[in-house]
Order: sequence, then C-alpha cells, then structure tokens
Amino acid sequence: MSPALLLILVVSCSLGVNNVRGYNFSPADATVAELQQALKQNTITSRQLVEYYLSQILELNSRVRGIIEVNPDVFTLADQADSVRKSGVPLSGLHGIPILLKDNISTKDKLNTTAGSFALLGSVIPRDAGVAAKLRAAGAIILGKAALSEWAYYRSSTAPNGWSGRGGQVLNPYVMSADPCGSSTGSAVSVATNMAAISLGTETDGSIICPSAYNSVVGIKPTLGLTSRAGVVPISPRQDTVGPICRTVSDAVYVLDAIVGYDPYDNATVAASKFIPPGGYIQFLNPSGLKGKRLGIVRSPFFDFPNGSFIAQSFEKHFQILSQNGAILVDNLQIANISVIQNGVSEGIALATEFKIALSSYLSGLIASPIRTLANAISFNLNYSTLEMIPQYGQDVFLQAENTTGTGDPAYQAALANMQSLTANGVVKLMTEYNLDALITPNATVTSVLAIGGFPGISVPAGYGLDGSPFGICFSGLQGYEPRLIEIAYAFEQYTKIRKPPSYLV
Ligand SMILES: *[C@@H]1O[C@H](CO)[C@@H](O)[C@H](O)[C@H]1NC(C)=O
Ligand SMILES: *[C@@H]1O[C@H](CO)[C@@H](O)[C@H](O)[C@H]1NC(C)=O
Ligand SMILES: *[C@@H]1O[C@H](CO)[C@@H](O)[C@H](O)[C@H]1NC(C)=O
Ligand SMILES: *[C@@H]1O[C@H](CO)[C@@H](O)[C@H](O)[C@H]1NC(C)=O
Ligand SMILES: *[C@@H]1O[C@H](CO)[C@@H](O)[C@H](O)[C@H]1NC(C)=O
Ligand SMILES: *[C@@H]1O[C@H](CO)[C@@H](O)[C@H](O)[C@H]1NC(C)=O
Ligand SMILES: *[C@@H]1O[C@H](CO)[C@@H](O)[C@H](O)[C@H]1NC(C)=O
Ligand SMILES: *[C@@H]1O[C@H](CO)[C@@H](O)[C@H](O)[C@H]1NC(C)=O
Repeated sequence: MSPALLLILVVSCSLGVNNVRGYNFSPADATVAELQQALKQNTITSRQLVEYYLSQILELNSRVRGIIEVNPDVFTLADQADSVRKSGVPLSGLHGIPILLKDNISTKDKLNTTAGSFALLGSVIPRDAGVAAKLRAAGAIILGKAALSEWAYYRSSTAPNGWSGRGGQVLNPYVMSADPCGSSTGSAVSVATNMAAISLGTETDGSIICPSAYNSVVGIKPTLGLTSRAGVVPISPRQDTVGPICRTVSDAVYVLDAIVGYDPYDNATVAASKFIPPGGYIQFLNPSGLKGKRLGIVRSPFFDFPNGSFIAQSFEKHFQILSQNGAILVDNLQIANISVIQNGVSEGIALATEFKIALSSYLSGLIASPIRTLANAISFNLNYSTLEMIPQYGQDVFLQAENTTGTGDPAYQAALANMQSLTANGVVKLMTEYNLDALITPNATVTSVLAIGGFPGISVPAGYGLDGSPFGICFSGLQGYEPRLIEIAYAFEQYTKIRKPPSYLV
C-alpha cells in the first residue's frame, strides 16, 4: 500500500471511522437506492459513508488488494456533497455516493492514472475522462482507483489475471486461490467486499464481464460508444468500452444512466447516442421483464459441461426459472464460425495494430509523462525490470504490438474485413433470424463475440461451484439492446437473488 493511502487511512481512523456503526443504517451491501434513501432521511451522511468504506479498505485491502489509491480529497468531496444536499436542490441518483474507478480512467485530481504500471506514474493528464466528468456532474464522490491486470492485460500473456506492477496481485475474495479474472479485477473485488459502493470498469474483450462473473457481482459492458472512452488508457477505439461493476443490476443501471452520452472528446459517442432511451435506463428495472423475451441458447461451445455436472444442473435450473417467468427459450442454436471467432486470430492482429497507435495518441495528449510511445513503455520496462517483474512475466504482447506497421498493412485490413463478416454471418444473422432479445451464456464465454461486434452484455451472479468459487450468467445482444438486457437481467436477479457476501475461503 502506498504511503498516501496508509496516511489517509490512519487519519480517517483517528477521525472516528467507527462512528458510523453507531447509526441505525448499515451501508454494508446497501444498494444505491437504499443509500439515497438513508442520505435523504439523514440517517447517514456522505462523510460517514466515506468513513465506512475507508474502514472496509483498512480492514480488507491488504488481503485482497483491490484498491491502488484512495483519493486524498475524499472527505472534502463528501462534505461538499453533504452541504449541497442540505441546500435542498434536486439531486441525481448518485449524489454523494462514493465510486471507485479503474486505474486506467483519468481523473484530474491528486490521484494517479497508470493502468497499474510504474511507467505512467507521474504522468499528468489534461482533464477528467469523459465518464469521470459525468460522474462528478452527477454528484458522485471519486473514492479512489481500482487495481487491474496491468495495461488491461495487454503487456504480458503469462502474467496472472489481476496482477500489476503497482497494485500487486488482486485476490478473489470468495476463494482466495481462485482466478479473480480481469482486467477490471479491483473494481469487481472492491464492490464485492464493500470497499466501495459502486465502481467503473472497462472492457475490450471480457474485462468487465469476466471479473464480474468470477467475483459474484453485476457488470454491464455497454454498446461501443454509449459511454465515452476519452481520457481512458486505450487498447482499441474499435473495441474499448467503459461500464459499471456493482453488486446489483439496479446499482449498475444508476451508474450507467450517469455515464452514457455525448462527449466532444470521443466521436463514437455521437452515433451511439441514438440508442439512449428518453428517460434513461432506470425505467427498465422491471420485475416482470422476462415476459415474452426470446432468449437464445447456443449449447456448443458455451455449455460444453459434462452432462449431469453441478454447473450443468445449475444452468438447467436457471433455464427453468427463465421460462417459468415468461421468457421463451430458443434452444440448440448455432453461431456460424464460432470457433474462428473464438480463436481470436483476426482480433489479435487488429488489436496489436490499434493498440500501438491508440496508446501513442493517449500518451501524446498527456501534459507530462515518463513515456510517450509504446517503444518508450517497452524501454521503461527493461530499465525497471524488477519493479515490473519482466523476468517473470515478460512483455510479449507489447513486443508484438510494437512490431505492427499501421492500418495500411493488408493483414490488418483483412482482419477487419474478416471480423465484420464473422459478426454479420454469426451472431447478427442468428439473432435476426430467430428474433432474439438476448443470448444466454455462462461466465465470460461469449466475450469475443461481443468484443468484435461492439455489442453489449450484462453479467449477473448465477451460483457458486462446489469449491465455493462464483460463476455468472451473461445476457447479451446487439448494439443498443441495453433496455431489454436490463429488463431480463433485473428480472432474473429478482427471481434468484444469488449473490452472497465473500467467504474468504483459503
Ligand atoms: C501518485 O503518485 C505519487 C508518486 O509519483 C505519489 O507520491 C502519490 O501519493 C500518488 N497519489 C496518490 C493519491 O496515491
Ligand atoms: C466460471 O468461473 C469460475 C471461476 O470462479 C470457474 O471455477 C468455473 O469453472 C467457471 N464456470 C464455467 C461454466 O466456465
Ligand atoms: C482501459 O480502458 C479501456 C476502455 O476504454 C479498456 O477497454 C482497456 O482495456 C483498458 N486499457 C488499459 C491499457 O488499461
Ligand atoms: C470528431 O470528428 C470531427 C469531425 O470529423 C473532427 O473534426 C474532430 O477532430 C473529431 N474529434 C475527435 C476527438 O476525434
Ligand atoms: C449430454 O446429453 C445429451 C442428451 O443425452 C447429448 O445430446 C449431449 O451431447 C451430451 N452433452 C455432453 C457435453 O456430453
Ligand atoms: C531507459 O534507459 C536508457 C539508458 O539509460 C535511456 O536512454 C532511456 O531513455 C530509458 N527509457 C525510459 C523510458 O526510461
Ligand atoms: C518482430 O518482427 C521481427 C521481424 O519480422 C521478427 O523477427 C520478430 O520475431 C517479431 N517479434 C515479435 C515479438 O513478434
Ligand atoms: C462463416 O460461415 C458462413 C456460413 O457457414 C459462411 O458463408 C462464411 O463464409 C463463413 N466465414 C466468414 C468469415 O463469415
């Protein structure tokens, strides 16, 4: 833990962190709606909420390492939120609620934005990321930065999920030896353990859906461009998305409502804004949201479990719950060329090319930075190889990306064309032909399909394996399907209520 984090924790303790326990309201596992209600009724203040999360961080972060930095100004922000509330002006659903941001999302404050790497420590960003600005405008309190797989798992293909040079190894709080997945590992682990009320993650391919599933929380990977990527350390503008990771579907939807929309610094938000429904997404938190929804099941390869296994049985039960509550299951479907989509060859070529360009563009926009190009980042890692554990994990993905020669490369063009064709002939054709509202898949098995299409998905807790490690169910669809995915995910969650707090099994 950094000295700054330690300091603020010690200070917060001496300020009487435990006072909050003397109140009638316990923030543990409270939803955004419950927190708003308590704030409104003055059974708790934002300052006390912040004290609660800091006490959780003090108690748990040394074990699970979900948080890299705590905002030194967090008490000032909380006091401001409290005084605005007292003034009686109308408030947004996130006003005064502490939120944790993945460490690749820029905030123009005392927090660093480093994607977990020492190479970006000391870099100075020009402005808040688009989503951070929207959160501040909504009155949310930026609590700190979440640990992640370094460079969103785009440096080394052999480093463990959830590892970064700055953050160390994030652990799964359910089964400490289990894979916590990534790359938004700290975001998922921190809300699972009540070290933050709500959080943001980012996904290029699986980075929201997977850690959400493995840590028994809810993640929304939005349609590409629905949320701005400006000020976010990139992998690929063609695939990157920013989305909420929270304990419930409703919480995630409150966050989604706050972060969607136009941002002059990200042109993809222009086209995608046509998908945003008037009145926002809260209206789709509909307990009967399963009625009449057509849900597709692609057994192979997504449900290739041994027949009769615990996980197979769990999903059969979920299918029953879905159909008993009004959904129409369309079973035994196939996605054309799914094995080609999943082998990721075209995606890999495209991402490598795009990362080199997008990273340099991000770095060149910084006011100050130890590195300005991918080549600089590679050189930094060699210079500080112990700190960045280069002998152990290397930087093969970086080296591969550095080797690319730009978007004019015929191999790059062919990869793009191939992905477009795979998407059109695959999931788009399937969902159109069968008039589907969503696909149902386990854990993070579907993420490549969503990644190359710019499609949305929502992961909801779906159970715990025999060893206690969580798994998730993902509802996914085509661009702009968020309203119906929210209806389906919310109704499923209300009928099942599977999430339980972490058990810290060793
Ligand atoms: C940001 O990084 C600097 C080191 O460059 C460190 O001194 C500072 O404490 C960090 N900020 C926070 C909020 O942890
Ligand atoms: C889902 O993820 C968990 C990790 O916590 C893993 O143990 C389990 O095998 C996965 N299940 C499926 C169906 O992929
Ligand atoms: C950070 O953010 C983007 C979202 O724009 C995400 O898709 C990507 O994986 C992350 N990149 C890095 C390098 O951390
Ligand atoms: C967005 O598009 C406009 C018009 O093509 C262009 O002038 C502008 O530079 C673009 N902005 C960004 C942030 O890419
Ligand atoms: C499971 O059983 C069904 C019906 O008996 C069969 O069609 C299917 O191939 C089996 N699946 C696996 C993964 O063994
Ligand atoms: C790494 O070290 C070399 C040799 O001292 C130096 O020229 C280079 O600028 C350093 N690179 C970075 C990114 O620190
Ligand atoms: C980079 O390209 C060179 C020349 O084509 C090749 O020898 C090397 O293996 C490549 N490195 C990586 C990491 O792809
Ligand atoms: C995928 O499958 C369809 C139907 O089987 C086929 O026509 C198409 O050429 C395949 N390949 C791609 C890249 O779409």
